[in-house]
Amino acid sequence: MEAISVGRAQLFQGDALAGLERLKADSVDALITDPPYSSGGMYRGDRVQDTGAKYLNTGQRHPGPSWPGDTRDQRSYGLWCERWLGAAYNALKRGGVVAVFCDWRQLPTVSDAIQVAGFVSRGILVWDKTEGTRPVKGWHRQQAEFVITASKGPRGKPGADAPVLPGVVRCAPRAGEKLHQVGKPVAVMRELVRLAPADGVVLDPFMGSATTGVAALESGRAFVGVEIDPHYFGVSLERLRKLEAA
Ligand SMILES: C[S@@+](CC[C@H](N)C(=O)[O-])C[C@H]1O[C@@H](n2cnc3c(N)ncnc32)[C@H](O)[C@@H]1O
Repeated sequence: MEAISVGRAQLFQGDALAGLERLKADSVDALITDPPYSSGGMYRGDRVQDTGAKYLNTGQRHPGPSWPGDTRDQRSYGLWCERWLGAAYNALKRGGVVAVFCDWRQLPTVSDAIQVAGFVSRGILVWDKTEGTRPVKGWHRQQAEFVITASKGPRGKPGADAPVLPGVVRCAPRAGEKLHQVGKPVAVMRELVRLAPADGVVLDPFMGSATTGVAALESGRAFVGVEIDPHYFGVSLERLRKLEAA
């Protein structure tokens, strides 16, 4: 698997594990990623549907295709997360930070996997998607997704200019902004990349449409991304090329 360089970004097309194995040990400052959730339903029948059926609201359309890797049951999802998190552990510097997205169903599994991989658990950030999310009759609206944070060993003393970051990021997903079926808003990723040093290297092994990459490069950080799907890899490449050429 060869890396494609785009300015301060290095991109790999292929499996996350293979990409992570290409990285030098102790070379990355922050792992910030939004892996497939393998969620989107309570039952096997729900889980194996394609991602468009699972994650787009009824009547909602997205020009991007469905994507792979989202059909594991909870047990195998946990084992898989342990594997890629273990490979990412090797690539992270000591004191490096981790921020992994999940939903309410996978929160305990991802939290366990992060610690099995060797990281020190640090907390949970809430992404509040606002009241625009799908209502649930007779129940609380599932309007939040979660970002589990951790570090590789002690975090190190923050510098005098280290920012104080919010514990809740309130930001509605904007359909028009999404270049991926489940693309995250760039505004949310801008908050997350602030976990990395101002000149640090941010890694996203499930980059989708490179929203993490955009936030990293815009803020002066370097970026390493891996994506298995050729369509979304192409979207990332074009997006980051435009950004670096601007
Ligand atoms: C939740 S999406 C990421 C969306 C991204 N945060 C964005 O804003 O565009 C997860 C991505 O992981 C990719 N993926 C699934 N399995 C993978 C694997 N084994 N290795 C690398 N990428 C994978 C999918 O194709 C999908 O694009």
